[in-house]
Amino acid sequence: MACYVRLMRREDIAQVTEIDREAFPTLWPPVNYERELENRLAHYIVACDEEEKVEESEVEAPLEKDPPGLASRVRRLFNYNRFFGHELPKSGKQYIIGFAGFWIMVGEAHITNIAVRELHRRQGIGELLLIFAIDLATKLNAHIITLEVRASNTAAQSLYCKYGFTQAGLRRNYYVDNKEDAVIMSTENITSVPFQAHLQRLKQAHSRKWGIALYQIAR
Ligand SMILES: CC(C)(COP(=O)(O)OP(=O)(O)OC[C@H]1O[C@@H](n2cnc3c(N)ncnc32)[C@H](O)[C@@H]1OP(=O)(O)O)[C@@H](O)C(=O)NCCC(=O)NCCS
Repeated sequence: MACYVRLMRREDIAQVTEIDREAFPTLWPPVNYERELENRLAHYIVACDEEEKVEESEVEAPLEKDPPGLASRVRRLFNYNRFFGHELPKSGKQYIIGFAGFWIMVGEAHITNIAVRELHRRQGIGELLLIFAIDLATKLNAHIITLEVRASNTAAQSLYCKYGFTQAGLRRNYYVDNKEDAVIMSTENITSVPFQAHLQRLKQAHSRKWGIALYQIAR
């Protein structure tokens, strides 16, 4: 196998939209990923399972799949990594497990989305995507990363806290569907020695847990 993270492509849009709908069913208006790919401020990455293939006709409809055994799944997922810039299959049939995106404006990266297919959660993929997003934002000269997260979304908040995000504020009644508050979270300077040291420790722990040899963003 293979799980690898690469930049999002046009042919990924159907699967990314499917994951988005599963993760954020009440989000309205829905994100237009066609437009996001043309937006020079926006940067999106996807985590793909290279062994799992998706026929074009299947992309529109969610796949009915048996939940895989966790151990073999994890072995398959993290047997090796492929990185941006390497020769990757051109086909749009790679099975996408999760994605993340951010906008960069004047040195600030704002995470717009991070989502993992329900079947694949709690297997380190959200963390993998966040690591790659932080590394990519750093390479793109961002100094801090911010985001908004639902007050009730403790899973995502826990992920962000782990990576050094802290609460920077609250937007009351921010979400239109249920008037839920948004917690604004922000990092310290991501280029600082303490932040990078913490990130390095987290990568090592993640690598030990999931068997990833190295994390590297190539252009
Ligand atoms: C948030 C999300 C991306 C996490 O992805 P994931 O692949 O399941 O997360 P990981 O397995 O990499 O977990 C990494 C860390 O996230 C936190 N976490 C993830 N799921 C959690 C849960 N259900 N409860 C508590 N903490 C959780 C933990 O801190 C975990 O670290 P640990 O393993 O040391 O405890 C995923 O739950 C998701 O797609 N949710 C729906 C979309 C969403 O809410 N996105 C955030 C929008 S701001």
